[in-house]
Amino acid sequence: MKGLILVGGYGTRLRPLTLTVPKPLVEFANKPMILHQIEALAKAGVTDIVLAVNYRPEVMVNTLKKYEKEYGVNITFSVETEPLGTAGPLKLAEEVLKKDDSPFFVLNSDVICEYPFEELVKFHKAHGGKGTIVATKVDEPSKYGVIVHDIATPNLIDRFVEKPVEFVGNRINAGLYILNPEVIDLIEMKPTSIEKETFPILVEQRSLYSFDLEGFWMDVGQPKDFLAGTALYLNSLKKKGDKSLAEEGEQIKGNVLIDPTAKIGEGALVGPNVTLGPNVVIGNGVRIQDSVVLANSTIKDHAWVKKTIVGWNSTVGKWARLEGVTVLGDDVEIKDEIYVNGAKVLPHKSVSSNVEKESIIM
Ligand code: GDD
Ligand code: MG
Repeated sequence: MKGLILVGGYGTRLRPLTLTVPKPLVEFANKPMILHQIEALAKAGVTDIVLAVNYRPEVMVNTLKKYEKEYGVNITFSVETEPLGTAGPLKLAEEVLKKDDSPFFVLNSDVICEYPFEELVKFHKAHGGKGTIVATKVDEPSKYGVIVHDIATPNLIDRFVEKPVEFVGNRINAGLYILNPEVIDLIEMKPTSIEKETFPILVEQRSLYSFDLEGFWMDVGQPKDFLAGTALYLNSLKKKGDKSLAEEGEQIKGNVLIDPTAKIGEGALVGPNVTLGPNVVIGNGVRIQDSVVLANSTIKDHAWVKKTIVGWNSTVGKWARLEGVTVLGDDVEIKDEIYVNGAKVLPHKSVSSNVEKESIIM
């Protein structure tokens, strides 16, 4: 089978992390975001994966090529000279996606869930339509694409409304599709939106169905959702009895994922909902919860960290206090005893005075 992952866009909502690393390579639960998807596709029997990119492909090529062998897949890069939106990239990758009659997967690169690809294939083949969208329920549907059904035909989509201004329902497009190759014939070779242009045609043809997702789902393209998604993901590992979670104890509270090379000092308390990347050092007496610490960063003794993403190669000083969805970019230094609440600190900055309100430090 075949799959295409939409990896374009500049990831602006995940700045400052995306100023130095493309969004799909930012580690979610200690693994580049996109690897969660590549792994799930490979597990479902996908052998050809197209990454549709328009931003810094070199870095991605270098990082991802090495995983081809590990996962037993061919990864090709389809590079756009201008952003082609969410449908144009399918046309650009036509040769791979149409190489046989089997349906292909399309994934938004920033969604995290327990990808139900095998069930999705079965469901899609059984209804006989041209496309299936994975659906999930959310409380705030206005920032997503909303799916509306007829009561008489509960899986056949009756209307698809991208980013509705008025409430039409709360079952939304989870950003995962399976489509028949003929769907590509509906797309022109220009910047186009699958949500606004292609789905309405399929709805009109009464050939677009939805498949209900079980379990958690999150678009992790913004810091607040990245942290919330981390908590949901760790919880799902816990439910599955996954052995990679740290054992709870005097220093570990709730669900915590720790790279084997990370070190935790005496009297420190980590968790719940924390991930510590490679070579991270947590000092003595540190208290850290609901946070992500990326590779090679150090949290010095007695710092207090909550709802914070610490980017790579950064240092948080002694007795510092970080909270309120603070995000540190690459190579940031927070001096001793500093208080930071809801700041986004750009790469290579040093912060030596308190930041009490949401702000960008550059
Ligand atoms: N290759 C390529 N080229 N990819 C692109 C481009 C482009 O020009 N523009 C966006 N993408 C990719 C993004 O990287 C992302 O993986 C996906 O297409 C969707 O774009 P977002 O910018 O993340 O869209 P959204 O989150 O506002 O809305 C989409 O996702 C929601 C679920 O999270 C829509 O598909 C909604 O209908 C959906 O509910
Ligand atoms: Mg998104």
